[in-house]
Amino acid sequence: MKDTNKKTHFGYREVNEAEKSKFVGDVFTSVSKSYDIMNDAMSFGMHRLWKKIMVELASIDDKDIILDIASGTGDISKIISREYPNTTIFMSDINFDMLSEGRNRAINESFDSNCSFCQLNGENLPFKDNSFDLITVGFGLRNFTDKEKGLSEMKRCLSENGKLLILEFSKPINPLFSKVYDWYSFNVLPKLGSIFANDSESYQYLAESIRMHPDQVSLKNIVLKTGFKDCKFYNLLNGIVAIHVARND
Ligand SMILES: C[S@@+](CC[C@H](N)C(=O)[O-])C[C@H]1O[C@@H](n2cnc3c(N)ncnc32)[C@H](O)[C@@H]1O
Repeated sequence: MKDTNKKTHFGYREVNEAEKSKFVGDVFTSVSKSYDIMNDAMSFGMHRLWKKIMVELASIDDKDIILDIASGTGDISKIISREYPNTTIFMSDINFDMLSEGRNRAINESFDSNCSFCQLNGENLPFKDNSFDLITVGFGLRNFTDKEKGLSEMKRCLSENGKLLILEFSKPINPLFSKVYDWYSFNVLPKLGSIFANDSESYQYLAESIRMHPDQVSLKNIVLKTGFKDCKFYNLLNGIVAIHVARND
């Protein structure tokens, strides 16, 4: 029988596993309209470059079938669609408001011709085994209740030798840089959230959830433990962000 009292983290708070996805859902519903402007404001536009690098590292073939999990407002799908118009892209997100923002944007900015839209939980993918050549997850895995379950599902849905790319916040390497980054995260981010999204709490959650997420090496080990092979990671901005690349066995 499923243990309904099993605990997990929502930022620094300990919550029941069953509650986490509702709390995460509330965060993204609240920020969905201001999500893009906040990304630019808090990263000084650098998230655009990180996403471009992720797509470069994916070595996409023009005929690939691609699942973009936690696609949100669609930045990653947009880059792929523009650069590889013959791919088939499934933009997917658990949150209706974020997915709707992504879908509207895809239509308004004309990158919808090779995109489909699916509301789904990345921990329970409604696809057959071996369905995709590539799965991308940008700044999404951190919010999963059960990351191992999500990764197992991704492995199941990837074709043999298919690629997994995870773009996620990670741990800065330099201790001094880390201190400045901590100050920025806990003092500036919530204020920016208050100004641009009228919501400081969601950005306090962002700062906390980053600290609770496994660092680069731990995430690599989790990916390998799930059964992926050849997992490598690339640190960006001193490890504030890392891209993990792995292949299905
Ligand atoms: C920080 S946004 C990232 C959006 C986009 N990938 C980007 O890089 O800009 C995180 C997204 O993950 C989604 N998400 C959280 N948990 C999820 C889950 N279990 N399955 C699918 N999507 C999830 C949220 O709804 C949100 O849209």
